[in-house]
Amino acid sequence: MSDLSNYRKSYEKSELLESMIDKNPMMQFQKWFYETEEFGGVEEVNAMTISTIGLDGFPKSRIVLLKKYDEYGFTFVTNYDSEKGKALLQNSQVCLSFFWPSVERQVIIKGIAEKQTEVYSEGYFHSRPKGSQIGTVVSQQSSIIPNREFLDEKLKILEDKYENIEVPRPENWGGVLVKPVSIEFWQGRANRLHDRIRYTLLESGDWKIERLAP
Ligand SMILES: Cc1cc2nc3c(=O)[nH]c(=O)nc-3n(C[C@H](O)[C@H](O)[C@H](O)COP(=O)(O)O)c2cc1C
Repeated sequence: MSDLSNYRKSYEKSELLESMIDKNPMMQFQKWFYETEEFGGVEEVNAMTISTIGLDGFPKSRIVLLKKYDEYGFTFVTNYDSEKGKALLQNSQVCLSFFWPSVERQVIIKGIAEKQTEVYSEGYFHSRPKGSQIGTVVSQQSSIIPNREFLDEKLKILEDKYENIEVPRPENWGGVLVKPVSIEFWQGRANRLHDRIRYTLLESGDWKIERLAP
């Protein structure tokens, strides 16, 4: 179909040295997130891939939007009855990853997923535009539906229903918190000799820092 063997790029924009990193990976993440935003060229800096091990035993990856990160971990919102929701509630070991091409960086996070608090999910749901709230009620994410009209008709019915009243948050929709156990920062370098620094959470709560071969 197509030979892409001459697609080749040299990464030369930056470096990641032990002398310049933060001891805390969440602080290091924040630094890279801000730098990527500032540098520009990535439309949705908070778009990340989440990989789960499904009920069928296969890994599956898809994009979600990071809504919050703090000392507890990384939060996104989703439908708990979706394919990913069911997968992560059965096997809470997940992987998140970011690729920020304009700064030649990748971040890979292994972590343990759990439902965010009701307070978070409730607060975030009601902060969304009404159209998004209704969209969430309309769509039983990942279920099989007959056609497009099925969604459009349901949307119309619910828009009328909720015209003058608050949309209640569906019980199966809310935040997921991923608590990191390891975070790897990858910076592209020349000659394929990229920088890779991995933080691993120790039982003491401290982070071990190691350099990996590219
Ligand atoms: C840029 C982008 C952002 C997305 N953000 C979310 C999100 O925050 N939450 C979500 O559930 N799905 C989001 N999706 C849709 C998911 O990629 C996916 O299609 C959906 O969650 C169903 O996945 P599942 O069937 O594996 O559970 C996003 C997709 C894209 C391309």
